[in-house]
Amino acid sequence: MKFPIDRFQSIRTPFYYYDLDLLSRTVAEAAAQTGDSRYHIHYALKANANPLVLAPIREAGWGVDCVSGNEVEAAVVNGFSPDSIVFAGVGKTDEEINYALGVGIGCFNVESLPELEVISELASARGVTAKVALRVNPDIDAHTHHYITTGLNENKFGIDLRMLDDVVDKALALPGIKLVGLHFHIGSQLTDMEPYRMLCDKINELQAHFAEKGITFSSINVGGGLGINYENPDADPIPDFKSYFEIFRENLELGENQQLHFELGRSIVAQCGSLISRVIYVKKGVEKQFAIIDAGMSDLLRPALYGAHHKIENISSPDAKEEVYDVVGPICESSDVFGKDEKLPALHRGSLVALRSAGAYGETMASRYNLRALPSSIAF
Ligand code: LLP
Repeated sequence: MKFPIDRFQSIRTPFYYYDLDLLSRTVAEAAAQTGDSRYHIHYALKANANPLVLAPIREAGWGVDCVSGNEVEAAVVNGFSPDSIVFAGVGKTDEEINYALGVGIGCFNVESLPELEVISELASARGVTAKVALRVNPDIDAHTHHYITTGLNENKFGIDLRMLDDVVDKALALPGIKLVGLHFHIGSQLTDMEPYRMLCDKINELQAHFAEKGITFSSINVGGGLGINYENPDADPIPDFKSYFEIFRENLELGENQQLHFELGRSIVAQCGSLISRVIYVKKGVEKQFAIIDAGMSDLLRPALYGAHHKIENISSPDAKEEVYDVVGPICESSDVFGKDEKLPALHRGSLVALRSAGAYGETMASRYNLRALPSSIAF
């Protein structure tokens, strides 16, 4: 990626830079590859809720996948149509449910029986009907990091397959509820398509099972999770949406009047974003040298939380002779490390570095730990 470094000089670091041209091309490619009028993308707002990033996504006419009342509000404020909003989360509060009912969201992705009962009560009290999809835990191992695997048995997400019949019956019987579909999400940062094929098989099986009982669904939601290339972002600036959507086209049996919903987050916004930071000091130790930068885990948490690695680039002097650094942040935690033994063109006090592929789960996971300022952002 070519960075507009002249425009960066006057901006206080650290900040997120979003390449809007790459974002627009990514959105266009995903839209082009869905290739079926029954397929609908709901952008997972948790990945990035920056209004500058939301604009091209809204313009594509996509819906939004939200996981809190504030995310529903952000979607509405940013001009997304309420009926295109799906709302997931294992712990929706009464206040959040009431707010979502009030704005008239498209669908609640319901994760448990007690939640279903509360939505029924609150919707009935308002004299409205809540459209509901039941989130099913399909017991598929997505082979991704254990913190971001969600489709396996014994985690807090979704309804266990063994309990699904009962919950479906309940959903069909409760007042104030219209059961429209089933919802799944097997994990995040999946680069192998096999778990998605297994998911399709499972959904076919479940649909056949319910059809035998005379129950059909107007909507199936397969969640998100398509991964990106963190190690070499310039090799794959736009994820392979073609292979992804093909898996569903080839393996999922979808009725003519059924709609298929996707909740893509990372694959849409990760590659267009970089965290730009300045080297504060180069500290020479006995055996190591450290590049201490002004971004820390409060700005980009993924390395500290998941051991994730974001490609680091010296964008001030990319052609300088390479040296080896541990690239670390200023925060008082040993996990505040972005890279160990990184071979980088020589860094100096004041050099700018880019932490790549940070457009997803970067800015949204920033905190004020150590009472640091939140990172700012620019997009062009
Ligand atoms: N739908 C549901 C129900 C989800 O839980 C998620 C992500 C998505 C869709 C979007 O998944 P995506 O397409 O972005 O993979 N903070 C972690 C990722 C957490 C993902 C949580 N759920 C990270 O930085 O890797």
